[in-house]
Amino acid sequence: MPVMLQTPFYDPGKTYDENYNYGPYGAFADGKDLRTNEIPKIDFLGFKINTPFGIPAGPLLNAKFCKAAFEKGFDVIHYKTRRSRVFPTNQWPNVLFVDVPGDLTPLGGAKKPLLGSKTTNKNPTHFSITNSFGNPSPDPDIWQEDMKKAVEAEGPGQLLVASVVGTIKKGFSEEDYFDDFAKSAKLAKETGVKVIELNLSCPNVANEGIICYDLEAVERICRKSKGSVGDMPLLIKLGYFSPEEQNLLENIVKSILPYISGIAAINTIPAPVVDENGKQALPGSPARLVAGICGASIKWAGLEMVKRLNLIKKKLKSNFAIIGVGGVMKPADYFEYRKFGSDLVQSATGAMWNPYLAQEVKRRLKTL
Ligand SMILES: Cc1cc2nc3c(=O)[nH]c(=O)nc-3n(C[C@H](O)[C@H](O)[C@H](O)COP(=O)(O)O)c2cc1C
Repeated sequence: MPVMLQTPFYDPGKTYDENYNYGPYGAFADGKDLRTNEIPKIDFLGFKINTPFGIPAGPLLNAKFCKAAFEKGFDVIHYKTRRSRVFPTNQWPNVLFVDVPGDLTPLGGAKKPLLGSKTTNKNPTHFSITNSFGNPSPDPDIWQEDMKKAVEAEGPGQLLVASVVGTIKKGFSEEDYFDDFAKSAKLAKETGVKVIELNLSCPNVANEGIICYDLEAVERICRKSKGSVGDMPLLIKLGYFSPEEQNLLENIVKSILPYISGIAAINTIPAPVVDENGKQALPGSPARLVAGICGASIKWAGLEMVKRLNLIKKKLKSNFAIIGVGGVMKPADYFEYRKFGSDLVQSATGAMWNPYLAQEVKRRLKTL
């Protein structure tokens, strides 16, 4: 029996463009401003924040979504990843529920096909979904104007972060591609946003693969992007690194310390997703057989990355911020991430189906 769920603020039953033009949906969009006069006292990247909880890059498509998120008390939020040029969205559907028994591990569950469907019988704190958009982007002229409005929607103790990614164009050299990250970061800086994140981890991007595991590429992208944003804090977003890749992770972090102020982890865990006939569930290119999985089943991976990034931070005697993302579906998950050493915790899937998640976290904090 499918469970009756709240209308998510990003509605997977509608196309990306419908969501962009008419969203957000559900209680998230009721216009009620739930912010109170909190005294911002948590330091995050030199800014005073109310509560170090928010929404990562993805489900907040434009200023309307960002304004609604701020009003519902999500204090540090990311505007959806943007590019230096127009880029199309993957064919609808982009989000399916996936049936994952327990934790999704890269060498275990994520090796076998997962069943994707438009309904679920799991309750909203337990499910996992695909997210397969391909990092669409409007023209910079459009998103820059809109991002300015999102910055204006910040209340006291709230912070908007811009997420950007490079785009490969026909005839581009590797250098041109890395320069394009820096160009996108510069375009974001022009909007007045105070922090920029480089998306180095998305598995669903046409052509580009996952660059976050390539030390040299990451170093060059960060160096160039820092050159274009100057004193502004620069973050990077990583995918999951296995314990066997801990040395690689440490070397990457060491090489980019001069340029970055924080690391967000994780994005999604890639896995094949099929329909009830065993066929590719998401339409379009054969590459879409594999989709990024997020939600409850990847919490273990986000927590593990936070723990291991903290070990590296201590070893290198550094003070970069750690942003814990992945499977935060309920207030207890926020507290778990904080215990593991996250300076900021964010929820995408959980927040989409629970517009009051930030309120619930704040209520629990008050009783401590
Ligand atoms: C609808 C949706 C869209 C997303 N788009 C992006 C994106 O544009 N850039 C990005 O870095 N991550 C994107 N993500 C990944 C999230 O930022 C996050 O890393 C991932 O969903 C894991 O968190 P969760 O388990 O709370 O969903 C997206 C996630 C969702 C659910």
